Amino acid sequence: MKICCIGAGYVGGPTMAMIAEKCHDIDVAVVDLNEQRIAAWNSPNLPIYEPGLQEIVEERRDKNLFFSTEVKKYIKDADVIFISVGTPTKSYGIGAGQAAELGYVEGCARMIAEVCEGPKIVIEKSTVPVRTAEVIQNVFDGYEKGDLFEILSNPEFLAEGTAISDLENPDRVLIGGDSTTEAGKKALETVVGIYNNWVPRENIITTNVWSSELSKLVANAFLAQRVSSINAISAVCEASGADVDEVANAIGKDSRIGPKFLKSSVGFGGSCFQKDILNLVYLCEHFGLADVAEYWRQVIKINEYQRKRFTRKVIHSLYNTLQGKRIAVLGFAFKKDTDDTRESAAIYICRDLVEEGADIVVYDPQVDAEEIKGLTSEKVEVASSAAEAVAGAHAVLVLTEWDEFKELDYAALYASMVKPAHIFDGRNILDLAELEKIGFNAFGIGKA
Ligand code: NAD
Ligand code: UDX
Repeated sequence: MKICCIGAGYVGGPTMAMIAEKCHDIDVAVVDLNEQRIAAWNSPNLPIYEPGLQEIVEERRDKNLFFSTEVKKYIKDADVIFISVGTPTKSYGIGAGQAAELGYVEGCARMIAEVCEGPKIVIEKSTVPVRTAEVIQNVFDGYEKGDLFEILSNPEFLAEGTAISDLENPDRVLIGGDSTTEAGKKALETVVGIYNNWVPRENIITTNVWSSELSKLVANAFLAQRVSSINAISAVCEASGADVDEVANAIGKDSRIGPKFLKSSVGFGGSCFQKDILNLVYLCEHFGLADVAEYWRQVIKINEYQRKRFTRKVIHSLYNTLQGKRIAVLGFAFKKDTDDTRESAAIYICRDLVEEGADIVVYDPQVDAEEIKGLTSEKVEVASSAAEAVAGAHAVLVLTEWDEFKELDYAALYASMVKPAHIFDGRNILDLAELEKIGFNAFGIGKA
C-alpha cells in the first residue's frame, strides 16, 4: 500500500512517521509545497520540536517514510491520500474571525482531482467544519471524477508535546465513512486496517462522516470548556480564600468529572482550541442556533478574561506603573515540550505589558528569538537562560510550565533582582510559601 499525506506540519509529520514506524510494509510519503519545511524534515534539524519524534523519523526516513515537494507525483501514485493542511480561522469576508478557511483543503481536492486517474481513498485529517466532505465531493464531481474517490474523515486527537505517545496509544481512533455502500465499507475497512496494525480494534471507532467531522470540533470545545471553567473558578477562589488546585483536586476525584484538564492557568493557547470553538460557533449560527453559539462563545470570552486578569494583577501589584521596570517572562510556548507559540497566552500578555511601558525580557528553552520579537515587539529582549532574564528584574512571570522552571535556584534569582521582588506563577507550578520565605512577593492563579 502507498500512502500520501498532503501537509508536513505538526499533524502530518508525526502521524505519518508513526504509521511508517508501525507498518513497515506501507510506503508513506509526506508532501508539502513549502520547500524549507520539507528540507528540514530531510535534515537532522526537524521543523518541529516534539519529544521522541526525531528517533522515529531517523529510523524510517528513506526506508518507508519520505518527505518531498513532489506533491502531484506522490498523490498520483498513492492508494490512500490524507489531507492534513491548515484550516485557520478565516480573516476576511463572510465569516471573518470565526469560520474555517477551507481554501487549502479545496486546493488539495482540486489537485487530487486533476492528477488522479484511478480509484483512491481520500481522508480528511485536517480539522474541518461538519459537511466538508460534501465540498470535497463537489470538487471531484466538477472534474467528472466523483466516482473515483471514497471520502473519509479521520480527525487527529494528538496534543502537541505528547504527540508520539498520543499516536502510539490513542484513547481512540475515529474514522467516519459511508457504511451504506460496498465501496464505502471497503474503504472504512482499509483505513481501520492501517491503524489496527498497532491500535486494538475496540479502540477504533467508525461512524458516519458527519459525526466524525463534528466530534473533532466537539472534543476540543469540551476540553477548552473545562479549562475555562476552572479558570473562571480561579477568580472566585482569589475572591473567597479558596485554593483552585484544592478545588480541582476535590472535584476531579468525582469519577463523573475526572481529574484531567482542570489545571488553572494564564489561559489556554495553541492552534486548535480557539479556532475550533470559533468554527463551532459559526456552524451553530449558520444552523440558526444562536443560543448554542453564545454558550460556546463564552469559553473564549473567559479565556480572554483570564489573560487580562493576570496582566491587571501584575500591573496592580507593581504599584500601577510598569514604566521603565524590567519584567522577566519565563516561557513563551503555549505549553511545555513544544516550540509552538500559536495563540500562546504569552503573546497577549507581553503585548499588553509592552503597551504599559515595561521592559520585557523573555526566556523560553525552545522558541526562537526572532519569533518572540516578531509576535510581540522589537523592543522585547530575548535571554538565553532564566538567570540572564531574571537578573535586574522587578518581577518574574512564569507563563509556560516547562519542567526546568520548577528546578531553578529561586534564592539566587531573588538575590539578582530589584527589591521588592515579585513573582507571578501563571501555571501554578511553584511553591508560593517557599518563595515567600525567600523574600518574594509571590502570586499564583486562584490562590488568595
Ligand atoms: P501546519 O500549518 O503545521 O501544517 C500544514 C501544512 O500544509 C503546511 O506546511 C503547508 O505548507 C501545507 N500545505 C497547505 N496547502 C498545501 C497544498 N495545497 N499542498 C501541499 N501542502 C500544503 O498545520 P497543523 O498544525 O499540522 O494542522 C493541520 C490540520 O490538523 C489543521 O486542520 C488543524 O486544525 C488540525 N489539527 C492540528 C493539531 C495540532 O496539534 N497542531 C491537532 C489536531 C488537529
Ligand atoms: C489540543 C487537544 O488536546 C488535542 O486533542 C487536539 O488534537 C489539538 O488541540 P494542544 O492544543 O496541542 O491539543 O494541547 P493541550 O494539551 O490540549 O493544551 C491546550 C492549551 O490548554 C495549552 O495552552 C495548555 O497549557 C492549556 N491547558 C490545558 C490548561 O491551561 N489547563 C489544563 O488543564 C490543560
